[in-house]
Amino acid sequence: MNNSREKTLYLRVNKREAQELIDLISKLYPNNKMLNDRYKIMKGRNNIFFPLKINPNQIEHLKQQIKGKLHVKVVKKYGEKRKDYKYKTLEEALEGKIPEKYFDLIPKSYDIIGDIAIVEFNEIEQLGDNERIKKKISMAVIEVNKNVKTVYEKIGKVSGDYRTRELRFLMGFKKSETIHRENNCQFKLDIEKTFFTPRLINERRKISHLKIRKAETIVDLFAGVGPFSIQIAKLHKVKIYAFDKNPHAYEYMKENLQLNDIRGEIFPFNMDVADLINPHNKIGIKLKNKVNRVIMNLPEHALYFLNVACHLINPKGGIIHIYLFSEKPNTIKKAKKKFQEKIEGLNYYIDEISRAKIVKSYSPKSNMIIIDAFVRKNQTHLKGNFK
Ligand SMILES: C[S@@+](CC[C@H](N)C(=O)[O-])C[C@H]1O[C@@H](n2cnc3c(N)ncnc32)[C@H](O)[C@@H]1O
Repeated sequence: MNNSREKTLYLRVNKREAQELIDLISKLYPNNKMLNDRYKIMKGRNNIFFPLKINPNQIEHLKQQIKGKLHVKVVKKYGEKRKDYKYKTLEEALEGKIPEKYFDLIPKSYDIIGDIAIVEFNEIEQLGDNERIKKKISMAVIEVNKNVKTVYEKIGKVSGDYRTRELRFLMGFKKSETIHRENNCQFKLDIEKTFFTPRLINERRKISHLKIRKAETIVDLFAGVGPFSIQIAKLHKVKIYAFDKNPHAYEYMKENLQLNDIRGEIFPFNMDVADLINPHNKIGIKLKNKVNRVIMNLPEHALYFLNVACHLINPKGGIIHIYLFSEKPNTIKKAKKKFQEKIEGLNYYIDEISRAKIVKSYSPKSNMIIIDAFVRKNQTHLKGNFK
């Protein structure tokens, strides 16, 4: 994959003038490295060859500066890459490999889940020659990230009940299953069959490091492969009931319980949480009014399922961690208002909001918001502090 010999540009200089050339280059370009440290400097019988960064304007400028002073020539020859060299950016890895017009279109960021990278190329669609450029960029992703073995392209949006995304295999080992490590936990998952985003790493750290009382009963309504539940149970001796209707997510969640050392107990369920309010649903009956904390990580529909959370939560008080999408501007204010209206419609009220903040920008028009709220049922006879 990483050819150690390929043609590149060199500055050929007579041995006697080599030091003078280096002094001149460092004087002319003090902050901008002209020489390409990816390749070894080569020695001939009378000449030394300095590898150049491929930047036509800069090379032309250098030629003008040297003209008449030193006997120097720009030549193209086979160079030897330094074995210890590691590309730092995609731009660097792609230098000389794709036409310059594509450089602005190199993705600024991409997700890495385990050893799989997921890249979004929306802008490249505007130019021809897509497939070849996408493959080159994928190769660069592998070269820059030594742990990445496979590259996929995002095709569609996260959609459907299981919140999965259409992906297309591009480069590397053809596989969609991986093990992702996050906050000292491991998560086995299939990027095509289950939802997972590494972008919530800080949220999961934050929630799992909250002051959670021993023996709390917690419900993770949209648990996926288990990242919130497992990270909480790793640190706290609690009972967590973790639900997901996607059978693949449920199977991986069960495997992930085995992969991680946890202090608490997790009970996984493969079901639609809407069924929890069914008067004949056994687990719904068991948990009704008993739950101290509910995690709701389904931003598109979380408000719709607030009735389920209220059905489970202790009427004397409990905490809801709810993720919502909210339109810009004033996203936090709007999200709080929607949450308050909905919870009041369910005969509950907000005692305290301990956190309401933007988690990330979701689209040009909306943000993802987290609200951590302590809620109670509207019953005047329920007195006392249950926080
Ligand atoms: C946005 S993902 C979050 C997964 C997980 N919490 C995480 O952080 O990776 C939402 C999950 O909810 C599940 N889901 C959607 N609707 C559901 C429902 N009605 N009942 C149970 N699970 C549901 C989906 O299958 C998906 O795994």
